[in-house]
Amino acid sequence: MKICIIGTGYVGLVSGICFAELGNNVICTDIDKKKIDKLNRGIIPIYEPGLEELVKRNSKQEKLKFSTDISLSIKNSNIIFICVGTPTNKINMKADLKHVFNATNKIKNNLNKYKLIVTKSTVPVMTGDKIEKILNIKKNKNKFDVISNPEFLREGEAIRDFLYPDRVVIGTSNTKANNIMRNLYLPIIKKKNRFFQTSRRAAELIKYASNGFLATKISYINEISNLCEKSDIDVKEISVGIGLDERIGDRFLRAGPGYGGSCFPKDTRALLNTAKKFKTELSIINTVVRSNDNRHKILTSKISNIMNNKLKNKKITFLGVTFKAGTDDMRESPSLKIIPTLIKKGCLIKYYDPTGSKKEFSKFKNIDYCSNIKEACKNSDLLVIHTEWNEFKQLNFKNIVKKKKFKIYDMRNLYSPNKMKKNKIDYFCIGR
Ligand code: UGA
Repeated sequence: MKICIIGTGYVGLVSGICFAELGNNVICTDIDKKKIDKLNRGIIPIYEPGLEELVKRNSKQEKLKFSTDISLSIKNSNIIFICVGTPTNKINMKADLKHVFNATNKIKNNLNKYKLIVTKSTVPVMTGDKIEKILNIKKNKNKFDVISNPEFLREGEAIRDFLYPDRVVIGTSNTKANNIMRNLYLPIIKKKNRFFQTSRRAAELIKYASNGFLATKISYINEISNLCEKSDIDVKEISVGIGLDERIGDRFLRAGPGYGGSCFPKDTRALLNTAKKFKTELSIINTVVRSNDNRHKILTSKISNIMNNKLKNKKITFLGVTFKAGTDDMRESPSLKIIPTLIKKGCLIKYYDPTGSKKEFSKFKNIDYCSNIKEACKNSDLLVIHTEWNEFKQLNFKNIVKKKKFKIYDMRNLYSPNKMKKNKIDYFCIGR
């Protein structure tokens, strides 16, 4: 198949590269010339394990190309994937669809023969209807179908999630379109993964309902962890104990600093807006959003308690600042709220992150990036393990802090409280 990807962000880049890996001819396009130039030189704009190797191999075999000429790329392809971003519009908190409609207009002007238009971007219910309406001008009659094919990949696990999906969801009632998609995904659905055809609107909602459900699980266990802390119970045991019930399942029950990233926060907000549009109450998601928005306050006040409410001039080290491990993404990371609050209260912050220093903190005083763990931890009063990178899992804290008295706040529950007690380290964690 000849595939054109519009939008070479996370979803577009990974999907394009993986479709090439599956044997298709793919052209990934973007309006960002710098990004495309870099990709043409083999430089990957995001941190994602394994991606560089696949780009090199598929570019060499000429199955994968990068271009800013979106019009020509559309003309030369049979399947067009819309993979542009749908960020939250900060004024009305709805999903901002301007990039989706810009892409649609490009397609509208370049329909030289039949093309299948596929939305992979996360878009609110009925966006497919709107795209179809825009494309449906006289000269384009019978030259296209618009379908939905939401993407469920996770940052840091993107290639595996794409090539070994739990499910492929295709939203269309059109048999021709469905067959094209089934053929496209055949190499991976042969591996017993599930191919699910449904209506276009249902596919659009499946994406939001999935992310909303996972966000609910996380907020649920986070709130249960608050209760555990007060009642001397280990939340990890609760996760195991409830997760053994197959109806609940043990995944996404890790208590932590709250969900962040480019998806859950944005998608839960957009889901609330869709509900509003259809005059329906989604009280559960509403509560989840509120609960997660407030989580940083609970954690900051815990830090204050740990430091006996004396934060001024306290040296605090953050290990990891991204929203999760395996990514350099800072979007909606809990650290973006916790660190500035601590700075305001007079703390002196140092941080180390395996993906380097972060521009998000450059406007603040009293925060320094350190290029290794030792330098970051030396002489600290408190170490905050914010992100669950493997390199933070086996540290000899006494050796690296080099100070008699220090404390640890492990926001990812990486260490055993009992072992810490034995080693006489003042250790605090989440829900234990
Ligand atoms: C999420 C979904 O997991 C993907 O299925 C989806 O395709 C993607 O959003 C998207 O919509 O594009 P991602 O944002 O990459 O993927 O990250 P996750 O691994 O899901 O983690 C999201 C947040 O939840 C992180 O802040 C993580 O630390 C937190 N989390 C996750 C927990 O606090 N506890 C858990 O048990 C699991």
